[in-house]
Amino acid sequence: MIDYIDKIPNNVDLGRDRVLQRALEHWQPAYMGWWYDMGPSESHALDVYLRTAISVEPDGWARFGYVKMPEYRWGIFLQPRDESRQVNFGTHKGQPAWQEVPGEYRSTLRRIIVTQGDTEPASVEQQRMLGFSCPSLYDLRNIFQVNVEEGRHLWAMVYLLHRYFGRDGREEAEALLARRSGDADNPRILGAFNEPTPDWLAFFMFTFFTDRDGKYQLCALAESGFDPLARTCRFMLTEEAHHMFVGETGVSRIVQRTCEVMKENNIEDPSDVRAMGVIDLQTIQRYINFHFSVTIDLYGSDVSSNAANYYTSGLKGRFEETKISDDHVLAAAEYPVSEVIGGKIITKSVPALTALNERLRDDYIKEVEGGVGRWNRIIEKHGIPFRLRLPHKGFHRAIGNFAGHHITIDGEVVTGEQWKKAASEWLPSDADYAYVQSLMAGRVVEPGKFANWIAPPSRGINNQPLNFDYVRFN
Ligand SMILES: [Fe+2]
Ligand SMILES: [Fe+2]
Repeated sequence: MIDYIDKIPNNVDLGRDRVLQRALEHWQPAYMGWWYDMGPSESHALDVYLRTAISVEPDGWARFGYVKMPEYRWGIFLQPRDESRQVNFGTHKGQPAWQEVPGEYRSTLRRIIVTQGDTEPASVEQQRMLGFSCPSLYDLRNIFQVNVEEGRHLWAMVYLLHRYFGRDGREEAEALLARRSGDADNPRILGAFNEPTPDWLAFFMFTFFTDRDGKYQLCALAESGFDPLARTCRFMLTEEAHHMFVGETGVSRIVQRTCEVMKENNIEDPSDVRAMGVIDLQTIQRYINFHFSVTIDLYGSDVSSNAANYYTSGLKGRFEETKISDDHVLAAAEYPVSEVIGGKIITKSVPALTALNERLRDDYIKEVEGGVGRWNRIIEKHGIPFRLRLPHKGFHRAIGNFAGHHITIDGEVVTGEQWKKAASEWLPSDADYAYVQSLMAGRVVEPGKFANWIAPPSRGINNQPLNFDYVRFN
């Protein structure tokens, strides 16, 4: 169980480590300052029906109840320790998992933790204005749930920095509260986390695509030989699942509503669809192209010596490392990566160790394809011929072998001129954003009511009815 008596709820026996506790109690007010400034705008007095972690056991770790978000019990929860756990890959394979940071990997591990930690507050900052345009109380509650849990994920990484990295860990923890998403002078570390999330379609796309990148990164870190990081990430994954649920079902409900309106009115042309106040499937496709391409950049270069080092050192594994049947050292293995040569995309084999970013990206893409397939089944059920799809992996890339090339959504290499000419068919234009935002001019807060552009969900949260008071405005 989690100790809620402490000022900082935890299951790491924080009360027995006075120095650490004082360091975290010092960071806490700075965190609250950040939440008040950069958390969901004008949300502080609302009573929100939130889930709070009360245990780290897989069954029944959550309790639901009304909470004012500044009073949310952010804390430090690690999956319980398995005494027999080992380093499961790389040159240290077979050694007992590390309970302290190995000296030679200190700065690498710190960089990994800071990079992960930086994404957590970033997404809260990106989403902070969306409460003003929520399509229902149900959705408002969901975005707030995602936001408080991203805040907790920041706590999870900050705990590791404070507990294991001394003074530079404390400095990094402060810097995590100082960077700002999209800030010209002090931006967040990774590109996708500096993009705006201007509307609810973008929010659902973000939680479907980009939170799922979070899942895959956390899965790779949950394999780490540094046991506290592995245990921290394992528990974060239980929370991440809800974020991706919000994204996938959010897009599903938008697709559903659009299809219903298209069928009822027997229309297909995007401008006719827009005239009915719903989001045309073509615009949804352009959002997919954008969010997919900026998110797969997050995995880094296709061929990367950093990725090889992380693996060989036992710091970051592959997705489901221990379920893979190979030598977990990868000294001789190969993996295919793509490259653009002479205006053509070619695939070649490289040492698998250097291609671990690409492999994780491929694992991710497989899962994303499943979600797109489920959206298409909704369209199919309505007898509409349109199909959503993922663009080619090389489309609109800024990092890795495709960066600097102009690749169409079908994977054709074209000139910059040709690409620019067609870009407005592939990526959301200013007019698309303006249209989507025009639908979301105000918020829908009457219990059980949903905006016209989105279908209600099939069920409520925690078995509550759809017309439940998920957020109370007082
Ligand atoms: Fe997170
Ligand atoms: Fe998340």
